[in-house]
Amino acid sequence: MTAIGIHDLELATAHHVVDLTGLAESKSIDPAKYVLGLGQTEMSVPAPDEDIVTMGAAAALPILERNGTEGIRTLLFATESGVDQSKAAGVSAHALLNLPSSVRVVEFKQACYAGTAALQSAIGIVSRNPGERVLIIASDVARYDLDSAAEPTQGAGAVAMLVAADPALVEIEPLNGIATADVDDFWRPNDSSTAIVDGALSVSAYLDALTGAWNDLAERGGPGIDEIDRILYHQPFTKMAKKAQQRLAEVTGAQLSTALSENEASVGRETGLEMGSRYNRRLGNSYTASLYAALAALLDHDKGLAGNRLGFFSYGSGSVSEFFTGIVQPGYDERRDAARAARMLDGRAPLEIADYRELHGAEYPSAADLETSRVTASPFRFAGIRNRARRYERS
Ligand code: CAA
Repeated sequence: MTAIGIHDLELATAHHVVDLTGLAESKSIDPAKYVLGLGQTEMSVPAPDEDIVTMGAAAALPILERNGTEGIRTLLFATESGVDQSKAAGVSAHALLNLPSSVRVVEFKQACYAGTAALQSAIGIVSRNPGERVLIIASDVARYDLDSAAEPTQGAGAVAMLVAADPALVEIEPLNGIATADVDDFWRPNDSSTAIVDGALSVSAYLDALTGAWNDLAERGGPGIDEIDRILYHQPFTKMAKKAQQRLAEVTGAQLSTALSENEASVGRETGLEMGSRYNRRLGNSYTASLYAALAALLDHDKGLAGNRLGFFSYGSGSVSEFFTGIVQPGYDERRDAARAARMLDGRAPLEIADYRELHGAEYPSAADLETSRVTASPFRFAGIRNRARRYERS
């Protein structure tokens, strides 16, 4: 059987950053609650001329520069912060990226799980026509109400992936475990720009979904926990990955390290929890991109992974979840550059809390024409709204 998986992977984020210590202090909350309790130090915040399209196109651009467009006939855009009810955001990204008209585009939605739905669909397309390659963009802006418990778990980010036969980074294995349950833990009604969340329920629903997906994988003959070298989790905040690791240890009876920072003592088998959290603790929640930002962090920092099996847990509230596995390919480390992501994260423009709050409150109803101010340093910008349609341009 042809090996199919992730051939290339790139991360992008928003222009601004909010320091969570400053955010906590502005609310007279102990910063340790955010930094240690949630495992988050920063969150990315889009400028007025950025959105899921500009971040997603920025993530995809270096992939196209490295790999060209040959064989790409499909662009799958995963998001749960969609900007239109009808048109796929990927069509705007397709134009910004000058992709050929022979590339079909569609948007995938099922909360944070949609990136994984896109990945599995891409694998299906490539297995039918192994000469084809599929470009995936997972891009999201996580927004909650100001002063809500969820506010420090906001964030923004995009991951682009090229799915191909004989992949250079990670071959995705065919077996997977799935758990779907109708639960109102987190959702965003059509008339709301912020998500509604039952925080405690969302945490327990996530953990129950992990149990269900793992058990389904096990029942279908998947690898045992001892055959999985590193484990990556969807990270709405990085402490959630630690809770997930604790749950997986309980379910499997394995001793797995739950150390989330380099200062924590590591007891049990090391599975990359800390390395896999390095980007997400600075991005904040990037919803559909979060699991794959964790993959980027692991591949960038863990140098001895060739031949190792990775476990992936993808959770999308509502809820659909999946546990699947992949094998890291020889030579992957020569293709990864941790300095690139560090430059991107370090290069964000800090926002004062008052400015962040003002930006958070800005709404862009489509009823009025709008020209956004020029802020972003991204190659692409959201120029505004004309005749009720969103306009994008190269910066
Ligand atoms: N020092 C250190 N730790 C502290 C502390 C302090 N001074 N004060 C509190 N803490 C700890 C708490 O003990 C707690 O840790 P544990 O969970 O390990 O017990 C942690 O900080 C958080 O404290 P609270 O539980 O009191 O926090 P909260 O209720 O104010 O908010 C939350 C937490 C409910 C997760 C909230 O941030 C939220 O609603 N977030 C959005 C929803 C979400 O991300 N859910 C995750 C699962 S759903 C999903 O994964 C999909 C998705 O992407 C949204």
